[in-house]
Amino acid sequence: MSGAVSGIEGKVIVVTGAASGLGFADARLLASQGAHVVMTDIDVERGSALAKEIGAIFLAHDVSDEDRWGQVMLDVEAKYGRLDGLVNNAGVAHIANIENTSSKVWRNTMAIHLDGTFFGCQAAIKLMKTSGGGSIVNMSSTAALIGIPDYLAYSAAKGGIRSMTKAIAIHCRRERLKIRCNSVHPGSINTPMVHHALKELVDVDLGAMEDQEKARLSMGIGEPDDVAHMVAYLLSDVSKHVNGTEMVVDNGDTVV
Ligand SMILES: NC(=O)c1ccc[n+]([C@@H]2O[C@H](COP(=O)([O-])OP(=O)(O)OC[C@H]3O[C@@H](n4cnc5c(N)ncnc54)[C@H](O)[C@@H]3O)[C@@H](O)[C@H]2O)c1
Repeated sequence: MSGAVSGIEGKVIVVTGAASGLGFADARLLASQGAHVVMTDIDVERGSALAKEIGAIFLAHDVSDEDRWGQVMLDVEAKYGRLDGLVNNAGVAHIANIENTSSKVWRNTMAIHLDGTFFGCQAAIKLMKTSGGGSIVNMSSTAALIGIPDYLAYSAAKGGIRSMTKAIAIHCRRERLKIRCNSVHPGSINTPMVHHALKELVDVDLGAMEDQEKARLSMGIGEPDDVAHMVAYLLSDVSKHVNGTEMVVDNGDTVV
């Protein structure tokens, strides 16, 4: 968490799914750099407590609810009069392949990842347009680049987020809105979501795997702050020429 990120101070930034893992790491880093952070999540108890800890604001928010997005933006506008950044981070990862993915799991995954990101980008652009522009970061995954058999719906949704991001970036550029939109693609990062997956898929705890992972990856296991620094960079002014791109944070896992 060390080192100032140029151009974050004073920005008004909404982070969804901020009551855990990557979202909280983003919120904490951004707050430490002087941003006005609005954390949102369905987990009200945890989200409120963590927001208090880092001096952020918390709003209860289901990202698949379009009307709630409207209210969140009204609240942000009423408090700050502007929006400079949005991190569409909230997510779930159901473990199921093409043969056993139920339509319920499929729809839930699409509602949270695709509807949520779509509603978020639409609502954010509306407010950012009135305050001179901004930066949107959509949390995708390396699943969008390679497809993970046991995460069928998740891979499809993250692929959709990747291409939606590019379409939004080019629209905003064409319309001269001064709004950038990029996706971030983490590999396996040490969060509750991954702990759950490891337990379900291979019946191991991350703790038990840690030495093995440390030996495999020269720089150790990916931690939430590794992703948070990429998110902060994309939200900051120093990335002003970075738009419509996909930032992979996986220590080379998709290369080898
Ligand atoms: N951890 C990884 O290895 C990894 C890798 C690639 C991508 N990602 C992505 O990063 C994001 C965060 O994942 P994480 O690992 O921190 O998971 P996590 O489970 O620790 O946190 C996810 C958060 O999203 C919230 N959430 C779930 N449904 C919601 C909804 N409908 N509305 C609002 N909030 C909701 C949860 O309450 C939780 O606080 C997700 O989009 C995930 O797909 C994670």
